[in-house]
Amino acid sequence: MSAAELIYDPYDYEIDADPYPVFRRMRDEAPLYHNEQYGFYALSRFEDVLEASLDHETFSSARGTVIELMDQPMKNPPMIFMDPPAHTRFRKLVGHALTPRRVRELEPRIRELAAGYLDAFVGSGGFDFVSDFSARLPVMVISSLLGVPEEDQEQLRIWTDLTLHREPGETGMSQAARDASGDITSYWQKHIADRRRQPRDDMMSDLMRGELEQDDGSTRKLSDGELYAFYLLLSSAGNETVARLLGWAAILLARNPGEREKLVRDPALIPGGVEELLRFEAPSPVQARWVMRDVEYYGQVVPRDSKITLLTASANRDEREFPDPDRLDVTRQIDRHMSLGFGIHFCLGASLARMEGRVALEETLRRFPTWDLEEEGLQMIHTSTVRGYSQVPIRF
Ligand code: HEM
Repeated sequence: MSAAELIYDPYDYEIDADPYPVFRRMRDEAPLYHNEQYGFYALSRFEDVLEASLDHETFSSARGTVIELMDQPMKNPPMIFMDPPAHTRFRKLVGHALTPRRVRELEPRIRELAAGYLDAFVGSGGFDFVSDFSARLPVMVISSLLGVPEEDQEQLRIWTDLTLHREPGETGMSQAARDASGDITSYWQKHIADRRRQPRDDMMSDLMRGELEQDDGSTRKLSDGELYAFYLLLSSAGNETVARLLGWAAILLARNPGEREKLVRDPALIPGGVEELLRFEAPSPVQARWVMRDVEYYGQVVPRDSKITLLTASANRDEREFPDPDRLDVTRQIDRHMSLGFGIHFCLGASLARMEGRVALEETLRRFPTWDLEEEGLQMIHTSTVRGYSQVPIRF
């Protein structure tokens, strides 16, 4: 009997629910996979995904990193969709604003926010770990990072929630979502104008002070539009990803109570536990690239101008790199994983993401050392960028 045909359809909900059996077959049977239906190639082994991530000259981000967006050229792309030299200049400018000191200084605020959300549920018997906690926290953190006054942060978070609101059966944006989106834009116009008048010690003020290099070697300041675009980039890159990471944490630790117990007993293991959770379920599991020259894998040529996806989530479960990769082990020694990318686009918010993960888990485990999942209430969201759950009801 011949094995079933190997099909990796990135839009298939059943595959998305558990892509690992398909990924394993791809690594073993078709480490260079070609999907004719949607017209893309895919790399699934750790070494291949790593090398391609490091080779930005062959694998370009300038057409976007989501396959269905690559056919329409984008006006004013964010830096994640740029190649050098433009990318290098933006990265340098943001690097001066998102400094290790700035991230370190956020820790007490992150802890205060996490404690505030979680304290409300002590003794309540249960709550939704994602919609009541992990989806809220990162939105507040990005606002803090950019210098939004604390008294405005909750309003911004509520508007951000509303922009995602969809009426049943509606696919486009609802009126409420459009209104909230307008409110956010007006808020930022005012915030940017305030900072221009009165710079402070925050990331937005640093971005305003920064000088962006031009082709002719001269420099210029960022426009209001570009500053607003940075807020949008940090929000889109930093909110959904952290929300999904923590949602996975609640699920995986409930399903692996022995591993959870280790973190409760020895909180010093939590940073390593966060790396293992990132490895085990990559919140951003697929990065696409545009192929700039003919390139050969396993005797097959990928022609120039093809789309290719780098399957980060598969690389993280590659048995060639990680022993017993399908076992969650919070004490695993991990030298490297692919969940925060590699090379020139390596996650700019990596240290912030790691800190949010650590602080959120420390505060959770301190209050709730055990919990059960309400399995029937789990709800997965299916998107082209992040993978994880929007509802994770827990009971304790
Ligand atoms: C668990 C949380 C996070 C995950 C899993 C994650 C994952 C990633 C990955 C895989 C990339 C590389 C994309 C590529 O190669 O095309 C990336 C880039 C990026 N991330 Fe994150 N991220 C997280 C949190 C954050 C946070 C909190 C921020 C904001 C402060 C952030 C900001 C960015 C930015 C700006 C880039 C683009 C960097 C560039 O193009 O040079 N991320 N992230």
